[in-house]
Amino acid sequence: MISENQIHEELTALFNHLEFTATPAGLYDPLRYMIALGGKRVRPMLCLTTYSLYKDRLGKEVLQPAAGLEVFHNFTLIHDDIMDASAMRRGQTTVWSKWGENTAILSGDVMCIDSFKRIAKAPAECLDEVLQLFNTTAAQVCEGQQLDMEYEELPEVPMSKYMAMIGLKTGVLIACAAKMGALIAGAPEDDCDNLYDYGYSLGLAFQVADDYLDAYGNEETFGKPIGGDIINNKKSWLTTRALEKADELLHEQIMAVSEMPVDIPSQQRDKVARMKELYEKLHIDEDAKYEIIRLTDEALEAAHRACTGLRYEVLKRFADKLVGRTR
Ligand code: IPE
Ligand code: IPE
Ligand code: MG
Ligand code: MG
Ligand code: MG
Repeated sequence: MISENQIHEELTALFNHLEFTATPAGLYDPLRYMIALGGKRVRPMLCLTTYSLYKDRLGKEVLQPAAGLEVFHNFTLIHDDIMDASAMRRGQTTVWSKWGENTAILSGDVMCIDSFKRIAKAPAECLDEVLQLFNTTAAQVCEGQQLDMEYEELPEVPMSKYMAMIGLKTGVLIACAAKMGALIAGAPEDDCDNLYDYGYSLGLAFQVADDYLDAYGNEETFGKPIGGDIINNKKSWLTTRALEKADELLHEQIMAVSEMPVDIPSQQRDKVARMKELYEKLHIDEDAKYEIIRLTDEALEAAHRACTGLRYEVLKRFADKLVGRTR
C-alpha cells in the first residue's frame, strides 16, 4: 500500500508540473488561472487513494487520469459560475467576471477536451472501461446541472428529487474518481463497484456540506460569498428540508422570503438573514450536520464491502476529512 503522505506529495508535484503552454493566451490564460487557484483536489486525491489500496507504488499510468478528473471538475466550475452568476471562487474573481462569459465558455470547453485526453492515457487493459465510466459520468454531470437550473424556477422540490439531482451534479464524479483508481490498479470488479458506491454517498455528503457552508460557512475559508444559494433561490438541501419540515405558516414565510428582492447588497443581506432565521427556527442547520454524518456512514458501509483492516482505515480517514471540512 502507498502511504497517504506519499499521495499528497505526488499530487502536489503533479499539479506543479502540469503545464498548459498552448496559445492563444486569451483561451489558455483562464485555464492556467483556474488550475493555479488550486482548490482541495478531492477527486484526484480519491482516485490515487483507491489506486493505492491495491499497489505499492504510484505508477505513471494513474497520474494523468487523476489529473484529468481535476481538469474536468475545474471546467464544470467555470461553467457553473456563469450559470450561478457567482463572482467569487476560491477567494478570487471567477473566470467569467474576469474575462467575460464568452471566454469562460470557450476556456471551459477546451478544459473539457483536455480532461478527456488525460483520461484516455489510462492503461490499455482497462481503457475501454475507464472511458465508458468517464463518458457516462461527464454526461450525468451535465444532466444534474440542467436539473439544478430547472429547480431554481420551481417553488418546491421533493427531497428525493433534490438527492437525485445532487447525485448527478456532484455524486457521480466523486464516485467515478473512486472507481477509476481501482480500475487502473486492476482491482476485482466487486471492489470497483463498492468503491463507486462509497464515492457516490461521499459525494452526496460533500454537496450537502457545500450547501450548509453556503449559508453557515466562513467566507474567507470557504472562498465563496456566504448566502449565494439563498439569494439565487437555489434548491439547496437546507431549503428543501425546511419546506419539507415547515408547518403551513412557516411554509408561507419561506415562500415569501424567496420572493424578496435582491437588486442591491442591502436587500441581499436582508434576504439571507431572514431565511437563516427561518432555518434556525426549524433547526435545519442541525439537521444538515446530521445528514452529512448519515451519508458518510452510508459511504463507509460501502467501503467495508470493498475492504477491511488498514485499507478500510484509509477510506475512513478520507471520509472523516471530508465530513469535517470548512472549505
Ligand atoms: C465545488 O467543488 C463544487 C461542488 C461540487 C460542491 P469543490 O468543493 O471540490 O471545489 P474546489 O475544487 O475545492 O474549489
Ligand atoms: C456545483 O454545485 C456542482 C458542479 C459544479 C457540477 P454548486 O453550484 O453548489 O457549486 P459551488 O457552490 O458554486 O461551488
Ligand atoms: Mg451550481
Ligand atoms: Mg455554483
Ligand atoms: Mg454550492
